[in-house]
Amino acid sequence: MFFGGGQECAPLRNSALPLDSMNIEEKVRKTLAELGLGDAEAIAALFAEVRAAMAGERRELIERGARDEAERDAMAKALRDRWLARKNGLLAHLDENWLKKASPELKPAVGRQFNELRRAASTLEVAELARDIPLRSRAEARDESAPSLPAVDEPRPSVRPPLKDLTLPGYRRPLGSLHPITQVQREIEDIFLGLGFRIETGPEIETVYYNFDALNIPESHPSRDDWDTLYIDSQTVLRTHTSPVQIRAMQKYGAPLYIIIPGKCYRRDNPDSTHSPMFHQVEGLAIDADITFADLKGALDFFARKFFGQETRTSFHPSFFPFTEPSGEVAISCRFCRGEGCRVCKQSGWIEVMGCGMVHPEVLRHGGIDPERYTGWAFGLGVDRYAMMKYDVNDIQLFFQSDIRFLEQF
Ligand code: PHE
Repeated sequence: MFFGGGQECAPLRNSALPLDSMNIEEKVRKTLAELGLGDAEAIAALFAEVRAAMAGERRELIERGARDEAERDAMAKALRDRWLARKNGLLAHLDENWLKKASPELKPAVGRQFNELRRAASTLEVAELARDIPLRSRAEARDESAPSLPAVDEPRPSVRPPLKDLTLPGYRRPLGSLHPITQVQREIEDIFLGLGFRIETGPEIETVYYNFDALNIPESHPSRDDWDTLYIDSQTVLRTHTSPVQIRAMQKYGAPLYIIIPGKCYRRDNPDSTHSPMFHQVEGLAIDADITFADLKGALDFFARKFFGQETRTSFHPSFFPFTEPSGEVAISCRFCRGEGCRVCKQSGWIEVMGCGMVHPEVLRHGGIDPERYTGWAFGLGVDRYAMMKYDVNDIQLFFQSDIRFLEQF
C-alpha cells in the first residue's frame, strides 16, 4: 500500500473517499495534504503510481494498434492531451495541486519527482507515440487469417525509421598537420640524414657539468653569462643549448661520429617577437680522422643551399664559442633583397643563420676522444628562426600560442 502512515498523521479533509478507491483524475485534483501524504517516501510512491499509470496507458495504445494513419494520429493526440494539455491535462492539475501547494518542507522532494515525471511524459508527444503505434496493414485487413507480410510496395509500418538520415552529409573530421616548427626541424634533419648523419637526442633537464663545464665553459668564465640560464638547483639547469648532447654522444659512441641533435632549449628571456624562454635548436657534430675547416665549410654551404635554395650564398665570419676553436658565424645572402640591403637584413645584405667551429680539443677530451687522433666540426642553429624566415612569420610567439587560425595555414 502506497500511503502508509501518512494517513494517520494527516487525516483526510475535504474527501469522503478512501484513497485506494480514487483514480488518478481524482487524485490530481486534490492537494497532497488533502490526500493525507506528509512524507517524502509516501510522495515517491504516489508519483511511482502515476508513472506506472502513464506507461500502462501508452502500452495499451501500442498493443491495440491502429487501422490507418488517421486513427493512429487521433489516438496519439488523445492520450497526449489527457496527460499534457496545458489547461486540463493531468500534469497541469498535478502541478497546480501537488507541486505549487506543497508545504515548504516537502516542496524539494515533490519538485524532483515532478521533473522526473515530466521527463517520462515526453514519450507521450504525438510524434513519438505515432511512431510506436503499429498500423494494421491493408493486406491484413483484407484477410485477417493471412500471414501479415506487407505488400512489397508498401513501407513496413512497424519498422522504425532509421535513427540516422543516411542522405545527410557526414561529419567531417578535420585533419591535423605537423606543427610548422616540427616540419622545419624534419626538413633540416632530412638534409643531414642524406649526408649520412644520425639523429641523437638528450635530456632537457641537464647537469651544470654537461651544459657548461664539459663544454669548456668554467664557472668563473664570463662567457657563461652569454647563456641566461634557468637553474633548477645549483647543479641542475634547463639546458640552454643542445651542445651538452655532443659530450653525451661522444661518451656513448666514441669516434668517428656524425650526428645531428634536435631539441628544445630554455633561456631566461622575456618573451617578445624574437625571443621565447623555450625555443628549438638543431646541433650538428662531425668527428673523424682528418676533419678540417674545409669540411665544415663544404657541409654547411651544401646545407644552406639545400634549405634556402640553390642561389643562396654563404659567408663565414670569425666568432667566439668556448667549445670550438676556431669559431665562426655563418650568414646567408638575404633572400628578400638578394644582397641589396633591406629591412630584414638590416641593410647588410646578409642574415646570420648559425654558430659553428672546430671542436675544441678540451671538449673532445671530456667526451673521451683523443684530440691527437681525431678532429671535428660542430654547428648550432635556431629552428624557430628558420621557420620564421621560411614562412615569413614576424613574431616567434605565434608558434607557441596554439591559435588554430595561425597553425592551420601550415
Ligand atoms: N651552442 C651554441 C649556442 O647555443 C651554438 C653552437 C653550437 C656554436 C655548436 C658552435 C658550435 O649559441
